[in-house]
Amino acid sequence: MTDIAGILERELGSAAVIGPGHERLDDYGRDESPLPEFHPPACAVLVESTEQAAAVLRICKERAVPVSPRGAGSGMCGGALPVPGGIVLSTERMTKIKEIDAGDLVAVVEPGVVTGVLQEAVEAQHMFYPPDPASLAFCSIGGNAATNAGGPRAFKYGVTREYILGLEVALMGGEVLRCGRRTAKGVTGYDLVAGFVGTEGTFGVITELVVKLLPNPPAAATVLAVFADMAGAGAAISALLREGLRPRVLEIADKSSIDHVRPKSRYRFPANAGAVVLLEVDGEPDAMALMMEKIGVRCDDLGALDVLAAHEPADRRALWEARRLISPSLKEAYRVKVNEDICVPRGRIVEMIARVQQVSLETGIDTAVFGHAGDGNLHVNLLSHDDPDDPAVRTKMWAAAERVFAHTIALGGTLSGEHGIGTTKRDYMRMEQSEQVLEWQRRWKLMWDPSNLMNPGKKIPARTKACSE
Ligand code: MLT
Ligand code: ZN
Repeated sequence: MTDIAGILERELGSAAVIGPGHERLDDYGRDESPLPEFHPPACAVLVESTEQAAAVLRICKERAVPVSPRGAGSGMCGGALPVPGGIVLSTERMTKIKEIDAGDLVAVVEPGVVTGVLQEAVEAQHMFYPPDPASLAFCSIGGNAATNAGGPRAFKYGVTREYILGLEVALMGGEVLRCGRRTAKGVTGYDLVAGFVGTEGTFGVITELVVKLLPNPPAAATVLAVFADMAGAGAAISALLREGLRPRVLEIADKSSIDHVRPKSRYRFPANAGAVVLLEVDGEPDAMALMMEKIGVRCDDLGALDVLAAHEPADRRALWEARRLISPSLKEAYRVKVNEDICVPRGRIVEMIARVQQVSLETGIDTAVFGHAGDGNLHVNLLSHDDPDDPAVRTKMWAAAERVFAHTIALGGTLSGEHGIGTTKRDYMRMEQSEQVLEWQRRWKLMWDPSNLMNPGKKIPARTKACSE
């Protein structure tokens, strides 16, 4: 058996390698995905430069060792988990912000930079990096690019792909490719950068990113509106969008989510709260004042139980508190939390939430639904107090997830709006995509990685027998 840990230690030094017997090795076999299958990696290698990443990929190609790239390990679908016999290549030590250029509105960063750290650094210079995944305090920009992460502000500003102008990538075998641009526009050649973003480490390891920035909006304000039921919340959202309102954030949460945050939230939700909508607008102060008035009036007209508005950062943070508490509160309350991130056409959100309630009734599994209503991107949480290591519980939870996926697709939706596919959703891909579409994706992956050693077995299901013959 190849002593890959020993070989990498000799090449990169022992400080770069977490090998067998190390107390932290198991950490690299886990991420934030629900009910994952656990395999510790043969070793984890913590690279500090592009040259080191390329050296690891050269050595692993020569010895046919699979490599799974990892950012901060905050992924929710098993995309960064090692495969049996494989290693993990972590970019957590590549944390340099190399450049922030206010004139060109770009930043050049290493992949291990924490997203929230980048945001603070650019905001200190009056610029703005909009993508805001919920995990921004600890997720990394390289991981965000690998999964094409979204977040609440995606409604107005789009997802990570729209902010990655250029990439440096280390490929399996050790070749280093620099592609893309740092200009605002550019249509020269095929868009390799867009093609790499969202590939969940299956094409290569991102070692540097050129990131697009925007001028910081002069002001922002937040509104929390509480409704008795989902139908009321849905009607208010539709009315506001029809009137041309373009908030930067448009979030929704159902009664179950509210009931779980109620004991912790400083805001006292009305006893009959059945749905909550969180909106955020930004722009010039005068235009914003008008938007806020419109939102308040429309929510009142449509029977909101309570409407709160905040302009000052501390007050706005207080309104966000309940939204931010949902996921941790569910995690605390249940032993199993399968958090999906399905996306349906905006007009089908209320129907989708009703269908999730139907799945809950049919399966006896508790649910909570919240998420990015503006994008139709809902976090459907399937929750259980049962033992997560019991195979029967796992089967039951994934069977319920499959029902949710079936409803999603029946409503014209897609399995994943922002978390990715990894391993946890890979085997459901056929519910949405034809074998032909899957086959073109396999060919595309093999073009970048003919030896299939770069994060193999992720994202796309293996060929069916008939297809491989
Ligand atoms: C969110 O929007 O809160 C995340 O994508 C999902 C989560 O943390 O549960
Ligand atoms: Zn989300």
